[in-house]
Amino acid sequence: MSDLLEGFLGTSVEGKKSRVPAKLDYVQSATGLFLGLFMWGHMFFVSTILISKDFMYTITKMFEGSMFFSEPKPWIVSAIVLFVFAIFIVHAMLGMRKLPNNFRQYQAYKTHMGMMKHDDTTMWFTQAFTGFAMFFLGSAHLFTMAVKADEIGPYGSADRMYSDFMWPFYLLLLLAVEFHGGIGLYRLCVKWGWFEGEHAKESRKNLKKAKWAITVFFLALGLLTLAAYVKIGYEHRDNAGEAYKPTAQVEARYDVKVRA
Ligand code: HEM
Repeated sequence: MSDLLEGFLGTSVEGKKSRVPAKLDYVQSATGLFLGLFMWGHMFFVSTILISKDFMYTITKMFEGSMFFSEPKPWIVSAIVLFVFAIFIVHAMLGMRKLPNNFRQYQAYKTHMGMMKHDDTTMWFTQAFTGFAMFFLGSAHLFTMAVKADEIGPYGSADRMYSDFMWPFYLLLLLAVEFHGGIGLYRLCVKWGWFEGEHAKESRKNLKKAKWAITVFFLALGLLTLAAYVKIGYEHRDNAGEAYKPTAQVEARYDVKVRA
């Protein structure tokens, strides 16, 4: 009954407003923090290709349980992807509440942004725009990773980039992720007062510098990584679809053949 009254009047019988929006904001922050930190780890994992194909292969197999099983188990990766996907969906669903949902709201926001010329207000627009783009780009990537977990590897990933012509998709996703994640983590710090210290103005300036440094670092790392996969994919184009064999295995086979 109390819920029904609040539904009509906007406040409870005691005249209090619901705490649900605050709780939803909290969940949005927590899922955003998880995804932001996850993306840092993810970028380091994906960029192992810059060290060597063998290293990327070893890390991939580690995620497939190579330390515990004699055979790789790609379903472990699919399970991790589905978990991340669930968090991603919750975060996106909660983010949707903040988007302008008709032209009037959009127009009011644009006017406000133009008049204020305030960095953090403009940043919000970038975050909303990149967030919207990720509804599609992020979902497509996560779905592919979940159903094709067994193809992840130095050749599988590179063939996807070059022979399946997915590099433009990844370029857009990379830009969206890095801007969205960088701004998101910065806004989390401002919203919850992390690292605020005694001098809020000074610490906000420093936070902004740190945000830019992190964005530039991950963008540069991401672009180099993307270029490395495209290069490997190009060199491997005639054998696209063939799985990578680590150097140790190739050498062992060569040795056995030569001796025989
Ligand atoms: C557990 C979940 C995830 C796994 C296992 C995973 C795995 C991978 C792999 C293997 C690649 C290399 C390309 C390929 O094989 O297709 C890649 C690239 C990429 N992923 Fe993910 N990913 C996950 C989640 C995400 C999420 C949530 C995002 C952001 C929404 C994301 C954004 C990207 C971007 C931007 C690239 C391109 C990186 C670059 O080229 O520098 N990934 N991912």
